Amino acid sequence: MKILNLVFHPDLTTSRVNRAWKRILEESGKIDTSVDMYRRYPDFAVDVEQEQASLLEHDRIIFQFPMYWYSMTPLLKRWLDEVLTYGFAYGSTGNKLEGKDLQVILSVGGHPRFYSGFDIYATVYELLRPFQLTANLCKMNYMLPLWMFRADEADEETIENYGRRWAASIDDPGRSDAREYLRSLPDGTD
Ligand SMILES: Cc1cc2nc3c(=O)[nH]c(=O)nc-3n(C[C@H](O)[C@H](O)[C@H](O)COP(=O)(O)O)c2cc1C
Repeated sequence: MKILNLVFHPDLTTSRVNRAWKRILEESGKIDTSVDMYRRYPDFAVDVEQEQASLLEHDRIIFQFPMYWYSMTPLLKRWLDEVLTYGFAYGSTGNKLEGKDLQVILSVGGHPRFYSGFDIYATVYELLRPFQLTANLCKMNYMLPLWMFRADEADEETIENYGRRWAASIDDPGRSDAREYLRSLPDGTD
């Protein structure tokens, strides 16, 4: 299985979590291609042909990013707008991504109680529904998302441990193991 990790952090030089996770995933030897997308496209001018060709070459696509305003970072939105075109990703003849896996890896600054699903709050899983719907539209397999709460407070060891956990599960062929991982996480993830 060929794995593509697209990292959408606005500035990896100031990142603690996503920079470490990107490195750990690369060191695992399981990632075929790993890209700092904001470095590739500092002016947001996404090269659609290049991105589509890269998608075709891989079987599992990872979007790794920090949660910003309960959502994705802006370049990832731009990338989705530009790259997942009608006739390529969806539509009656748009089947190029069919059967590929889509995996989200997310760092969340907030405490888990902010995402407990009570009161006005939504779970992280719910907030990531657009990715699930997008995967569905593109006939991709939506892998259960992986995330870590309290990203800004996490010490180095915690960040490394989560990164290693992601690396361990990243080439799981199916979804069930990822589900087990989610259940095993502290803070009631999922
Ligand atoms: C502009 C901005 C918006 C943010 N919005 C959220 C948010 O909606 N929910 C949340 O839990 N954390 C939020 N955060 C915190 C980030 O998720 C957190 O800083 C990040 O995951 C840490 O990862 P890093 O070390 O790779 O930068 C936000 C941070 C920034 C800078």
